[in-house]
Amino acid sequence: MKTKVLTLDAQQPDPAMIEEAAAALREGKLVAFPTETVYGLGAHALNEAAVQKIFDAKERPSTDPLIVHIAHVGQVGQLAASFPAAARKLALSFWAGPLTLILPKKPSIPDLVTAGLPNVALRAPSHRVARALVETAGIPIAAPSANRFSRPSPTTAAHVKADLDGRVDLILDGGPTDIGVESTIVDFSVDPPVLRRPGGITFEQIHSLVPGVVLASGEANAAEPQLAPGQLTRHYAPTADLTLYEGDAARIVDRIGADVRTAVARGSRVGILAPEEDLSALAPVIASTAAVGRVEVRPLGSRRDVERAARELFSGLRDLDASGVDVIFAVSPGSEGLALAIRDRLARAAEGRVRSS
Ligand code: TXA
Ligand code: MG
Repeated sequence: MKTKVLTLDAQQPDPAMIEEAAAALREGKLVAFPTETVYGLGAHALNEAAVQKIFDAKERPSTDPLIVHIAHVGQVGQLAASFPAAARKLALSFWAGPLTLILPKKPSIPDLVTAGLPNVALRAPSHRVARALVETAGIPIAAPSANRFSRPSPTTAAHVKADLDGRVDLILDGGPTDIGVESTIVDFSVDPPVLRRPGGITFEQIHSLVPGVVLASGEANAAEPQLAPGQLTRHYAPTADLTLYEGDAARIVDRIGADVRTAVARGSRVGILAPEEDLSALAPVIASTAAVGRVEVRPLGSRRDVERAARELFSGLRDLDASGVDVIFAVSPGSEGLALAIRDRLARAAEGRVRSS
Protein backbone atom coordinates (compact mmCIF):
# COMPACT_ATOMS: atom_id res chain seq x y z
CA MET A 1 0.00 0.00 0.00
CA LYS A 2 1.23 3.50 -0.79
CA THR A 3 0.67 5.93 2.06
CA LYS A 4 -0.57 9.35 0.99
CA VAL A 5 0.31 12.40 3.10
CA LEU A 6 -1.85 15.54 3.07
CA THR A 7 -0.39 18.58 4.82
CA LEU A 8 -2.99 20.91 6.23
CA ASP A 9 -3.32 23.95 8.47
CA ALA A 10 -3.99 22.89 12.07
CA GLN A 11 -6.00 26.07 12.71
CA GLN A 12 -7.99 26.14 9.47
CA PRO A 13 -7.96 22.68 7.93
CA ASP A 14 -8.79 22.60 4.22
CA PRO A 15 -12.37 21.21 3.94
CA ALA A 16 -11.50 19.33 0.73
CA MET A 17 -8.71 17.44 2.50
CA ILE A 18 -10.95 16.70 5.47
CA GLU A 19 -13.63 15.40 3.09
CA GLU A 20 -11.09 13.13 1.37
CA ALA A 21 -10.00 11.70 4.73
CA ALA A 22 -13.61 11.36 5.95
CA ALA A 23 -14.59 9.49 2.76
CA ALA A 24 -11.62 7.13 3.20
CA LEU A 25 -12.74 6.38 6.77
CA ARG A 26 -16.34 5.75 5.69
CA GLU A 27 -15.00 3.29 3.07
CA GLY A 28 -13.16 1.33 5.75
CA LYS A 29 -9.66 2.72 5.14
CA LEU A 30 -7.04 3.73 7.71
CA VAL A 31 -6.35 7.43 8.28
CA ALA A 32 -3.78 8.82 10.74
CA PHE A 33 -4.64 12.28 12.04
CA PRO A 34 -3.45 14.77 14.66
CA THR A 35 -5.29 15.22 17.93
CA GLU A 36 -4.39 17.68 20.68
CA THR A 37 -2.60 14.83 22.53
CA VAL A 38 -0.83 12.57 20.01
CA TYR A 39 -1.52 11.37 16.46
CA GLY A 40 -4.28 8.75 16.20
CA LEU A 41 -4.66 5.86 13.73
CA GLY A 42 -8.32 6.01 12.79
CA ALA A 43 -10.82 3.56 11.34
CA HIS A 44 -14.64 3.33 11.16
CA ALA A 45 -15.45 2.12 14.70
CA LEU A 46 -18.60 0.22 13.68
CA ASN A 47 -16.91 -1.61 10.78
CA GLU A 48 -15.16 -4.67 12.18
CA ALA A 49 -13.01 -5.28 9.09
CA ALA A 50 -11.77 -1.69 9.21
CA VAL A 51 -10.98 -1.95 12.92
CA GLN A 52 -9.04 -5.17 12.30
CA LYS A 53 -6.74 -3.20 9.99
CA ILE A 54 -5.69 -1.02 12.95
CA PHE A 55 -4.49 -4.06 14.89
CA ASP A 56 -2.67 -5.40 11.82
CA ALA A 57 -0.97 -2.11 10.96
CA LYS A 58 0.20 -1.50 14.53
CA GLU A 59 0.93 -5.17 15.30
CA ARG A 60 -1.17 -4.53 18.36
CA PRO A 61 -2.50 -7.48 20.37
CA SER A 62 -6.27 -7.78 20.16
CA THR A 63 -6.41 -7.78 23.98
CA ASP A 64 -5.70 -4.03 23.94
CA PRO A 65 -8.97 -2.07 23.43
CA LEU A 66 -9.33 1.10 21.34
CA ILE A 67 -10.62 4.57 22.18
CA VAL A 68 -13.63 5.67 20.10
CA HIS A 69 -13.55 9.32 19.01
CA ILE A 70 -16.76 11.29 18.71
CA ALA A 71 -17.68 14.88 17.85
CA HIS A 72 -19.61 15.90 20.95
CA VAL A 73 -21.29 14.78 24.15
CA GLY A 74 -24.62 14.31 22.33
CA GLN A 75 -23.22 11.16 20.66
CA VAL A 76 -22.54 9.30 23.90
CA GLY A 77 -26.11 7.97 24.02
CA GLN A 78 -25.64 6.17 20.67
CA LEU A 79 -22.60 4.24 21.93
CA ALA A 80 -22.87 3.92 25.72
CA ALA A 81 -25.58 1.99 27.55
CA SER A 82 -25.47 4.39 30.48
CA PHE A 83 -23.92 7.77 31.27
CA PRO A 84 -23.53 8.39 35.03
CA ALA A 85 -24.01 11.97 36.22
CA ALA A 86 -20.37 12.30 37.33
CA ALA A 87 -19.13 11.16 33.92
CA ARG A 88 -21.46 13.63 32.22
CA LYS A 89 -20.12 16.39 34.43
CA LEU A 90 -16.55 15.63 33.33
CA ALA A 91 -17.59 15.47 29.68
CA LEU A 92 -19.37 18.81 29.91
CA SER A 93 -16.31 20.40 31.55
CA PHE A 94 -13.42 18.86 29.61
CA TRP A 95 -14.80 17.95 26.15
CA ALA A 96 -13.78 18.71 23.58
CA GLY A 97 -10.40 17.83 25.08
CA PRO A 98 -7.90 15.24 26.34
CA LEU A 99 -10.29 13.16 28.45
CA THR A 100 -11.47 9.59 27.78
CA LEU A 101 -14.45 8.10 29.61
CA ILE A 102 -14.99 4.37 30.02
CA LEU A 103 -18.70 3.57 30.03
CA PRO A 104 -20.86 0.45 29.58
CA LYS A 105 -21.08 -0.18 25.83
CA LYS A 106 -24.02 -0.60 23.50
CA PRO A 107 -24.13 -3.82 21.44
CA SER A 108 -23.56 -1.88 18.18
CA ILE A 109 -19.86 -1.54 19.05
CA PRO A 110 -17.86 -4.51 17.73
CA ASP A 111 -16.19 -6.63 20.41
CA LEU A 112 -12.91 -6.13 18.57
CA VAL A 113 -12.98 -2.42 19.51
CA THR A 114 -13.35 -3.15 23.23
CA ALA A 115 -11.23 -6.33 23.34
CA GLY A 116 -14.36 -8.21 24.36
CA LEU A 117 -14.96 -5.96 27.38
CA PRO A 118 -18.52 -4.84 28.16
CA ASN A 119 -17.30 -1.20 28.24
CA VAL A 120 -16.26 1.34 25.65
CA ALA A 121 -13.75 4.20 25.91
CA LEU A 122 -15.09 7.46 24.43
CA ARG A 123 -13.42 10.79 23.79
CA ALA A 124 -14.25 14.01 21.90
CA PRO A 125 -10.93 15.50 20.75
CA SER A 126 -10.44 19.29 20.57
CA HIS A 127 -7.85 19.47 17.77
CA ARG A 128 -9.44 21.22 14.80
CA VAL A 129 -8.37 18.55 12.34
CA ALA A 130 -9.68 15.73 14.55
CA ARG A 131 -12.95 17.56 15.21
CA ALA A 132 -13.51 18.36 11.57
CA LEU A 133 -12.78 14.75 10.70
CA VAL A 134 -15.24 13.15 13.15
CA GLU A 135 -17.89 15.72 12.27
CA THR A 136 -17.48 15.33 8.51
CA ALA A 137 -17.15 11.53 8.58
CA GLY A 138 -20.39 11.33 10.55
CA ILE A 139 -19.24 8.06 12.14
CA PRO A 140 -17.46 7.23 15.40
CA ILE A 141 -13.74 6.72 14.79
CA ALA A 142 -11.74 4.09 16.65
CA ALA A 143 -8.20 5.42 17.03
CA PRO A 144 -5.29 4.27 19.14
CA SER A 145 -2.06 6.24 19.06
CA ALA A 146 -0.54 5.95 15.56
CA ASN A 147 2.68 4.16 16.55
CA ARG A 148 3.78 0.56 16.12
CA PHE A 149 2.89 -1.39 19.23
CA SER A 150 5.13 -0.54 22.23
CA ARG A 151 6.88 2.34 20.44
CA PRO A 152 6.57 5.85 21.88
CA SER A 153 3.38 7.62 20.79
CA PRO A 154 3.74 9.91 17.75
CA THR A 155 3.59 13.67 18.20
CA THR A 156 4.43 14.52 14.57
CA ALA A 157 3.41 13.13 11.18
CA ALA A 158 7.07 12.15 10.66
CA HIS A 159 6.81 9.85 13.70
CA VAL A 160 3.69 8.25 12.18
CA LYS A 161 5.46 7.79 8.86
CA ALA A 162 8.50 6.25 10.54
CA ASP A 163 6.29 3.59 12.15
CA LEU A 164 3.45 3.07 9.68
CA ASP A 165 4.54 4.05 6.16
CA GLY A 166 3.03 1.59 3.69
CA ARG A 167 0.57 0.35 6.34
CA VAL A 168 -1.98 3.19 6.33
CA ASP A 169 -3.89 4.76 3.47
CA LEU A 170 -3.58 8.38 4.48
CA ILE A 171 -1.73 10.58 6.97
CA LEU A 172 -3.08 14.05 7.73
CA ASP A 173 -0.07 16.18 8.69
CA GLY A 174 -1.23 19.02 10.94
CA GLY A 175 2.17 19.71 12.50
CA PRO A 176 3.28 18.80 16.03
CA THR A 177 0.56 18.07 18.58
CA ASP A 178 -0.15 20.58 21.35
CA ILE A 179 -0.06 18.49 24.53
CA GLY A 180 2.24 15.61 23.67
CA VAL A 181 0.94 12.97 26.11
CA GLU A 182 -2.24 10.96 25.66
CA SER A 183 -5.65 11.65 27.14
CA THR A 184 -6.58 11.02 30.76
CA ILE A 185 -8.70 7.88 31.08
CA VAL A 186 -11.39 7.74 33.77
CA ASP A 187 -13.26 4.46 34.19
CA PHE A 188 -16.94 4.83 35.10
CA SER A 189 -17.73 1.13 34.70
CA VAL A 190 -16.69 0.75 38.35
CA ASP A 191 -17.74 2.57 41.52
CA PRO A 192 -15.95 4.66 42.67
CA PRO A 193 -14.61 5.80 39.28
CA VAL A 194 -10.92 5.03 38.68
CA LEU A 195 -8.36 7.16 36.88
CA ARG A 196 -6.72 4.47 34.73
CA ARG A 197 -4.21 6.63 32.87
CA PRO A 198 -2.99 10.10 33.85
CA GLY A 199 -2.92 12.42 30.84
CA GLY A 200 -3.71 15.84 29.43
CA ILE A 201 -6.39 16.64 32.05
CA THR A 202 -4.83 16.45 35.50
CA PHE A 203 -5.94 14.25 38.39
CA GLU A 204 -6.45 17.47 40.37
CA GLN A 205 -8.84 18.81 37.71
CA ILE A 206 -10.84 15.56 37.71
CA HIS A 207 -10.82 15.35 41.49
CA SER A 208 -12.17 18.88 41.90
CA LEU A 209 -15.34 17.87 40.02
CA VAL A 210 -15.56 14.21 41.04
CA PRO A 211 -14.10 14.00 44.57
CA GLY A 212 -14.72 10.24 44.72
CA VAL A 213 -12.31 9.44 41.88
CA VAL A 214 -9.38 7.20 42.83
CA LEU A 215 -6.01 6.69 41.16
CA ALA A 216 -5.56 3.18 39.78
CA SER A 217 -3.18 1.42 42.14
CA GLY A 218 0.29 1.40 40.67
CA GLU A 219 -0.79 3.44 37.65
CA ALA A 220 2.47 5.32 37.82
CA ASN A 221 4.53 2.38 38.93
CA ALA A 222 5.97 0.24 36.18
CA ALA A 223 7.24 -2.29 38.69
CA GLU A 224 3.68 -3.52 39.24
CA PRO A 225 1.78 -5.40 36.58
CA GLN A 226 -1.13 -3.38 35.20
CA LEU A 227 -4.55 -4.87 35.71
CA ALA A 228 -6.39 -2.67 33.23
CA PRO A 229 -6.33 -3.99 29.68
CA GLY A 230 -3.76 -2.29 27.56
CA GLN A 231 -1.97 -0.79 30.50
CA LEU A 232 0.93 -3.10 29.77
CA THR A 233 4.13 -2.35 31.56
CA ARG A 234 6.22 -2.42 28.41
CA HIS A 235 4.71 0.54 26.65
CA TYR A 236 6.07 3.77 25.23
CA ALA A 237 9.34 1.93 25.20
CA PRO A 238 12.45 2.97 23.34
CA THR A 239 14.84 0.19 22.28
CA ALA A 240 17.56 1.35 24.66
CA ASP A 241 17.18 0.38 28.33
CA LEU A 242 15.76 3.36 30.17
CA THR A 243 16.36 4.18 33.84
CA LEU A 244 14.09 6.69 35.57
CA TYR A 245 15.55 8.99 38.25
CA GLU A 246 13.29 10.78 40.68
CA GLY A 247 13.40 12.72 43.92
CA ASP A 248 15.67 15.56 44.96
CA ALA A 249 17.03 17.44 41.90
CA ALA A 250 20.57 17.90 43.23
CA ARG A 251 20.84 14.23 44.16
CA ILE A 252 19.45 13.14 40.80
CA VAL A 253 22.18 15.14 39.06
CA ASP A 254 24.86 13.53 41.26
CA ARG A 255 23.59 10.02 40.60
CA ILE A 256 23.24 10.52 36.87
CA GLY A 257 26.72 12.04 36.77
CA ALA A 258 28.15 8.96 38.50
CA ASP A 259 26.12 6.57 36.33
CA VAL A 260 27.22 8.33 33.13
CA ARG A 261 30.88 7.88 34.14
CA THR A 262 30.32 4.19 34.90
CA ALA A 263 28.41 3.55 31.66
CA VAL A 264 30.97 5.37 29.52
CA ALA A 265 33.82 3.49 31.21
CA ARG A 266 31.99 0.27 30.26
CA GLY A 267 31.95 1.41 26.65
CA SER A 268 28.23 2.26 26.49
CA ARG A 269 26.70 5.18 24.65
CA VAL A 270 24.36 7.17 26.90
CA GLY A 271 21.26 9.28 26.25
CA ILE A 272 20.02 11.76 28.83
CA LEU A 273 16.45 13.10 28.86
CA ALA A 274 16.24 15.72 31.61
CA PRO A 275 15.04 19.25 32.38
CA GLU A 276 17.31 21.97 30.97
CA GLU A 277 18.46 22.92 34.46
CA ASP A 278 19.69 19.38 35.12
CA LEU A 279 21.42 19.22 31.73
CA SER A 280 23.26 22.45 32.61
CA ALA A 281 24.32 20.97 35.93
CA LEU A 282 25.55 17.85 34.13
CA ALA A 283 27.49 19.83 31.51
CA PRO A 284 30.92 19.26 33.11
CA VAL A 285 30.40 15.48 33.16
CA ILE A 286 29.11 15.45 29.58
CA ALA A 287 32.07 17.58 28.41
CA SER A 288 34.66 15.42 30.19
CA THR A 289 37.25 13.78 27.96
CA ALA A 290 35.94 10.25 28.51
CA ALA A 291 32.36 11.20 27.68
CA VAL A 292 32.93 13.30 24.56
CA GLY A 293 31.01 11.81 21.63
CA ARG A 294 29.44 9.14 23.84
CA VAL A 295 26.59 11.12 25.41
CA GLU A 296 23.45 12.42 23.64
CA VAL A 297 21.19 14.82 25.49
CA ARG A 298 17.60 15.93 24.88
CA PRO A 299 15.77 18.52 26.99
CA LEU A 300 12.67 17.49 28.87
CA GLY A 301 11.28 21.01 29.16
CA SER A 302 12.40 22.99 32.15
CA ARG A 303 11.62 22.44 35.80
CA ARG A 304 9.35 25.47 35.53
CA ASP A 305 7.61 24.43 32.31
CA VAL A 306 6.02 21.00 32.53
CA GLU A 307 3.82 21.69 29.46
CA ARG A 308 6.95 21.88 27.36
CA ALA A 309 8.27 18.70 28.97
CA ALA A 310 5.08 16.89 27.89
CA ARG A 311 5.49 18.15 24.32
CA GLU A 312 9.15 17.08 24.18
CA LEU A 313 8.77 13.69 25.88
CA PHE A 314 8.02 11.28 23.04
CA SER A 315 10.12 13.00 20.39
CA GLY A 316 13.01 13.07 22.87
CA LEU A 317 12.69 9.31 23.40
CA ARG A 318 12.48 8.67 19.66
CA ASP A 319 15.48 10.91 18.92
CA LEU A 320 17.62 9.24 21.56
CA ASP A 321 16.68 5.82 20.22
CA ALA A 322 17.46 6.85 16.67
CA SER A 323 20.87 8.10 17.78
CA GLY A 324 21.70 4.52 18.74
CA VAL A 325 22.43 4.98 22.45
CA ASP A 326 22.61 1.82 24.58
CA VAL A 327 21.04 3.28 27.71
CA ILE A 328 18.81 6.25 28.48
CA PHE A 329 18.79 8.10 31.80
CA ALA A 330 15.53 10.04 32.20
CA VAL A 331 14.49 12.44 34.96
CA SER A 332 10.97 12.43 36.38
CA PRO A 333 9.44 15.93 36.43
CA GLY A 334 7.48 15.08 39.62
CA SER A 335 3.98 13.78 40.17
CA GLU A 336 1.73 16.82 40.33
CA GLY A 337 -0.50 18.05 37.52
CA LEU A 338 0.71 17.14 34.05
CA ALA A 339 3.99 15.81 35.51
CA LEU A 340 2.10 12.71 36.70
CA ALA A 341 1.36 11.75 33.08
CA ILE A 342 5.01 12.23 32.06
CA ARG A 343 6.22 10.26 35.05
CA ASP A 344 3.77 7.45 34.21
CA ARG A 345 5.05 7.12 30.62
CA LEU A 346 8.69 7.17 31.74
CA ALA A 347 8.02 4.62 34.48
CA ARG A 348 6.45 2.27 31.92
CA ALA A 349 9.39 2.73 29.57
CA ALA A 350 11.73 2.02 32.51
CA GLU A 351 10.13 -1.39 33.15
CA GLY A 352 10.96 -1.18 36.84
CA ARG A 353 14.38 0.51 36.56
CA VAL A 354 13.47 3.41 38.86
CA ARG A 355 16.08 5.07 41.09
CA SER A 356 14.58 7.21 43.85
CA SER A 357 16.61 9.62 45.94
O1 TXA B 1 -4.98 10.79 23.63
C1 TXA B 1 -5.37 9.66 23.35
O2 TXA B 1 -6.14 9.02 24.09
C2 TXA B 1 -4.88 9.05 22.04
C3 TXA B 1 -5.48 9.85 20.89
C4 TXA B 1 -5.18 9.24 19.55
O3 TXA B 1 -6.86 10.00 21.09
N1 TXA B 1 -5.25 7.67 21.94
C5 TXA B 1 -4.65 6.70 22.68
O4 TXA B 1 -5.06 5.41 22.41
O5 TXA B 1 -3.80 6.93 23.50
P1 TXA B 1 -4.25 4.13 22.84
O6 TXA B 1 -4.80 3.00 22.10
O7 TXA B 1 -2.82 4.33 22.68
O8 TXA B 1 -4.64 3.89 24.33
C6 TXA B 1 -5.92 3.39 24.59
C7 TXA B 1 -5.97 2.78 25.95
C8 TXA B 1 -5.87 1.29 25.93
O9 TXA B 1 -4.53 0.84 25.91
C9 TXA B 1 -6.59 0.93 27.23
O10 TXA B 1 -5.69 1.06 28.30
C10 TXA B 1 -7.64 2.01 27.35
O11 TXA B 1 -7.28 3.04 26.47
N2 TXA B 1 -8.95 1.51 26.93
C11 TXA B 1 -9.56 1.63 25.74
N3 TXA B 1 -10.77 1.04 25.76
C12 TXA B 1 -10.93 0.54 26.99
C13 TXA B 1 -11.96 -0.21 27.64
N4 TXA B 1 -13.08 -0.54 27.00
N5 TXA B 1 -11.78 -0.55 28.93
C14 TXA B 1 -10.64 -0.22 29.58
N6 TXA B 1 -9.62 0.47 29.02
C15 TXA B 1 -9.76 0.84 27.75
MG1 MG C 1 -0.92 3.98 22.52
